[in-house]
Amino acid sequence: MTAPSSDKVFAGSVPQIYDRLMVPMIFAPYARDLAQRIKGHRPRDLLEIAAGTGAVTTVLAAELPETRITATDLNEPMLAQARTHLAGKTNITWQQADALSLPFGDASFDIVACQFGVMFFPDRVKCYAEARRVLRPGGRFLFNAWDKIADNEFADVMQQTLRQMFPADPPEFMARTPHGYHDPQRISADLTAAGFRDIAIETLTLRSPSPSAQDAATAYCQGTPMRGEIEARGEPGLDAVTQRVTEALARRFGNGPIDGKIQALVISAVG
Ligand SMILES: C[S@@+](CC[C@H](N)C(=O)[O-])C[C@H]1O[C@@H](n2cnc3c(N)ncnc32)[C@H](O)[C@@H]1O
Repeated sequence: MTAPSSDKVFAGSVPQIYDRLMVPMIFAPYARDLAQRIKGHRPRDLLEIAAGTGAVTTVLAAELPETRITATDLNEPMLAQARTHLAGKTNITWQQADALSLPFGDASFDIVACQFGVMFFPDRVKCYAEARRVLRPGGRFLFNAWDKIADNEFADVMQQTLRQMFPADPPEFMARTPHGYHDPQRISADLTAAGFRDIAIETLTLRSPSPSAQDAATAYCQGTPMRGEIEARGEPGLDAVTQRVTEALARRFGNGPIDGKIQALVISAVG
């Protein structure tokens, strides 16, 4: 099934809520992992695609001060949010770019990195071919993708709550897109079709902390494109839906600070 174009819209109040609540909960733990893997390759020039609000860029800029980092994303409002906390970093160049049509010359980078972006790309082979084109010979593409939603507890509870609330037409963004591309064989085949070799795919299970069930519910319902899908349903409104998800998370994980299992695939391939 083709994802609706609204799945890739990170704009309005989404970038700010995403950055404040989503990043520490589910993106920062994997950003540390991806940055450590990248650091081992000591890149001179690094391209980050779908950089969002800079979860990985932040760690890379601190850990690799000598590396020239080009951080890109389709949605300029996400990069604008990133710049609010990375404005002083002189080793980062920010540029709006579609991963399917990269505005860079052939063989320009030692590493291409992408954290939790590939699930959003309508044509992954095309994106992978673009990543390979801009890599220098022997350069490496390092990225990650969420595993199935059943292995990601907060997202699963939220998705199931929405199915109960909207039985005829549930907002399915979370299951369809972030958790819709997790078959290692398919990922490997797409990379091979784009010309990559030495493909390694690892499953990495981590914990996802949140100060409260309400913060986690707000992150998922209001800090992702799920927000637009919920709002499009009309009644019950965004606040009522967020409240129902809060209650479901609190029932399962408790009141006060909570944490749940998260799981992703981490992929490395040579261009
Ligand atoms: C889940 S966020 C991940 C952001 C960031 N890497 C992180 O770890 O927080 C997915 C990102 O993919 C971006 N995106 C969606 N489609 C894209 C495309 N065709 N090209 C580049 N970025 C895209 C969105 O704007 C969004 O910032």
